[in-house]
Amino acid sequence: MTRQPSVRSTPRLDRLWRAGQAFLGVELPIMCGAMTWISEPGLVSLMSELGAFGVLAAGNMPPAQLAAQIDETRRLTARPFGANIIVIAPNYQAHLDVVCEKRLGHMFFAGSIPRQSEVRRAKESGAKVVCFASTDSIARRMIDYGADALVLEGSEAGGHIGHVSTTVLLQEILFRFDDVPIFIAGGIADGRMIGHLCLMGAAGAQLGTRFVVAEECSAHARFKDAFMKARSREAIATPQYSSKLPVVAVRALHNRAMEDFGRLQLELLEKIQHGRITRPAAQYEVEHFWVGSLRRAAVDGEIETGSLMAGQSVGLVGRIQPLREILQQLVDEADLAVTAAERRLQGKRVPNAPAAVQDRD
Ligand SMILES: Cc1cc2nc3c(=O)[nH]c(=O)nc-3n(C[C@H](O)[C@H](O)[C@H](O)COP(=O)(O)O)c2cc1C
Repeated sequence: MTRQPSVRSTPRLDRLWRAGQAFLGVELPIMCGAMTWISEPGLVSLMSELGAFGVLAAGNMPPAQLAAQIDETRRLTARPFGANIIVIAPNYQAHLDVVCEKRLGHMFFAGSIPRQSEVRRAKESGAKVVCFASTDSIARRMIDYGADALVLEGSEAGGHIGHVSTTVLLQEILFRFDDVPIFIAGGIADGRMIGHLCLMGAAGAQLGTRFVVAEECSAHARFKDAFMKARSREAIATPQYSSKLPVVAVRALHNRAMEDFGRLQLELLEKIQHGRITRPAAQYEVEHFWVGSLRRAAVDGEIETGSLMAGQSVGLVGRIQPLREILQQLVDEADLAVTAAERRLQGKRVPNAPAAVQDRD
């Protein structure tokens, strides 16, 4: 195991980050959100080695592979990391078994709402349970089920998304709940945003898009290149054409795969109308499309026919950087934001600093 010297927090941020640090067991309450095909043991362990928090993405991988990835991550780091399992994935129950058997410290239930019995099982295995909350009623339900923390992920995020923006989720949930630590995701690429969110009461933040362009991230070079060239407005969300085929929206860069998905939805709808496919089978085909499509782009570098899942924050990432540098920058910017807020409270004028490093070369 190669131990990397960590990126350090600051005394000012420590005051704000206490709850997030204690919950995750790390110095920087900054998570690299699970990304299917991308969040593999190398990236996850490096996040944790650097003092932040990595999360493995189970996606729909064979359960034995998930077990092997947990073992491999543990070989690479002795620090805390988590696993993200998707409630609607065909292998979900087997994934839950694996993560419980491995007695992992943090378990993230994503994709839909877990059953109370599943949350209980995860907790009995010793895991701290993190759930996503896309409405205030879901937040309340997850806390009542026993969730130990929440992630609020706004619709600006990359990948499968909810309907509500980060700004509104903050007001609906962060400002109204104080039972558990709340982490914010979706649209964050600048550490100043993390500083401000923590001033609002967040325990920390989860980023995805920004970490895709980390030097050590295994995503294909053409996938990263597409991220670096894209503007925020090019990360668009897929529509749902009919309530007969409910689909979870996906935010990705516009390309041929996005158009193929539109056609697939229309074909499936026609088949549903003529009784040639059931609704669950059609929904399965939709999910199958995304898993295969993301793999084609992120692993094989087919950036036209594969899915370029990316958040709107893609417009804020301009170059490939080592993960250590990204984390150091996020910490510096967060500290800067908190310092500036303190000065503003003293009635001092604080000019906005230019974005530190993300600017395009
Ligand atoms: C390429 C890609 C794949 C993703 N895959 C998953 C996933 O498998 N499970 C999940 O819960 N979230 C997934 N996400 C969401 C991230 O974990 C994270 O919450 C999101 O990227 C945060 O928003 P941001 O992209 O604006 O930083 C994915 C995001 C991206 C960009």
